[in-house]
Amino acid sequence: METEKKKIVFSAIQPSGTITLGNYLGAVRNWVNMQDEYNCIYALADLHTITVRQEPAVMRKNILDAYASIMACGIDPEKSLFFIQSHVHTHAELAWILNCYTQFGELSRMTQFKDKSAKHADNINAGLFTYPCLMAADILLYQADMVPVGADQKQHLELSRDIAVRFNGLYDNVFKVPEGFIPKNGARVMSLQDPTRKMSKSDENVNGCVHLLDTPEVIMKKFKRAVTDSEAVVRYGEGKEGINNLMSIYSAVTGKTLEAIEKEFEGKGYGDFKTTVGEAVVEALRPIKTRYEQLIKDKAYLEECYRKADETALRFSQRTLSKAMKKIGFVL
Ligand code: TYM
Repeated sequence: METEKKKIVFSAIQPSGTITLGNYLGAVRNWVNMQDEYNCIYALADLHTITVRQEPAVMRKNILDAYASIMACGIDPEKSLFFIQSHVHTHAELAWILNCYTQFGELSRMTQFKDKSAKHADNINAGLFTYPCLMAADILLYQADMVPVGADQKQHLELSRDIAVRFNGLYDNVFKVPEGFIPKNGARVMSLQDPTRKMSKSDENVNGCVHLLDTPEVIMKKFKRAVTDSEAVVRYGEGKEGINNLMSIYSAVTGKTLEAIEKEFEGKGYGDFKTTVGEAVVEALRPIKTRYEQLIKDKAYLEECYRKADETALRFSQRTLSKAMKKIGFVL
């Protein structure tokens, strides 16, 4: 974390359930790969989760499970900061400020807000609406150069940039304007049961979503049941969302190109293909599950990691918050 010249990477994930294959391929895997080249700062975005009602005991368990799962993916506390958002009070403070620099119209256009308010029509709370301001605060507090996310976060990221540019325009350069980093492979992993929708922790159909901690048997079962089409040819194309998704997953996990995959499965049926993809995913997730099982038993170690990271994150983010507040006119 020491070398000042390294670019700063920031990203976060909501601990609102177990981590999915989509989270891993779209984001967390890149977080791990960026650790040597950049100053990486990652957060468990627990404040974001309460925009949807949570069961307290379940929420507590999810936070620790998610912390251990992300570490198990390969986040190294010696190389990166990995903290818990609610432990660092600057996030909620800057979020309030950014609320006052973001327009109703901008927030109304967020597709995630539209989707989530349709899904939770009985609880369209103000937090759900202003959620992108909290996300902007997360990023801008650390003067991040780059934000590795899946494709579904692109719109929020663009709003964060707009907010930063607007604020800088009013008060000189307070915030670094961040760039998104959306991977070529795995940026949009779709549900195995409805490949027109993204794979999501909250998928009602359990077979649609692969969780990092699923057993090999469960993973194989989910891939074998994956929705495909009637053509029975492994090729990437229109009207073949199920196969396209499986090919993308296989490509993301093995590094093989789509053309190479088409060749590999020439003359073979979907049964063989699904089994091979399932097995590749099982192998990719096996070491993560093993490491998770060790980590989750050692609560003291997990706590030591996040307390240390929380402290550093507070120190770092306080500098940006104070700068922003001073520029606005607060007496500090
Ligand atoms: P969240 O928790 O929904 O997802 C975490 C990361 O996983 C990516 N992702 C996917 N990528 C590919 N395919 C999928 N099916 C898939 N599902 C999720 C997401 O794009 C994301 O990168 N608001 C954020 C969390 C957040 C954040 C931030 C992110 C809070 N503050 C600041 C970046 C910067 C969220 O709900 O992600």
